[in-house]
Amino acid sequence: MIHLLNEGATLAAGEALASLLRPGSWIALEGPLGAGKTTLARGVARGLGLAEDVPVTSPTFALVQEYDTTPRFVHGDLYRLSHACELEPLGLLERLDEGAIVALEWALPFVAELGRPELVLRLSHDDAGGRGLQVEGAAAERARSKLRAAVAEGEAL
Ligand SMILES: Nc1ncnc2c1ncn2[C@@H]1O[C@H](COP(=O)(O)OP(=O)(O)OP(=O)(O)O)[C@@H](O)[C@H]1O
Ligand SMILES: [Mg+2]
Repeated sequence: MIHLLNEGATLAAGEALASLLRPGSWIALEGPLGAGKTTLARGVARGLGLAEDVPVTSPTFALVQEYDTTPRFVHGDLYRLSHACELEPLGLLERLDEGAIVALEWALPFVAELGRPELVLRLSHDDAGGRGLQVEGAAAERARSKLRAAVAEGEAL
């Protein structure tokens, strides 16, 4: 478990994640309401070079938001998807084929359609108002040490 003291730490974790992700792969952002999934995605977008003045907010109603970074970044929130057949119009598989990096909230019910995520990031609330972050997946070991180092710097900002 990586401890995320404050929002700065979550953003720093996301930024560090950006450098670890391969184009054409997706990551699952898991955890309860308000756990920091969108904040983590915002950090990834910044890490991919998205300008500070471009907002990265919850795509709950649009479901998917695409950002003009290199590689392109797609952030989705599948909370309101009730059936896998609603996935196709979102074009996520096409984006992955084109080499985008895709970060999805509430996506694990759709792993059969999306394929296995490169990483699963599990956020949780801690007793002190911060967050905990667990990293799972084939690349998790390497990601953990990178994230720990980045988070230590980010929480001081
Ligand atoms: N490490 C942290 N410590 C304390 N607060 C944090 C931390 N990371 C993020 N937050 C705060 O948690 C709140 C909710 O964050 P966010 O919207 O990213 O959550 P979410 O998991 O995407 O929620 P939802 O399930 O509604 O989509 C925000 O106010 C954010 O600033
Ligand atoms: Mg969110």
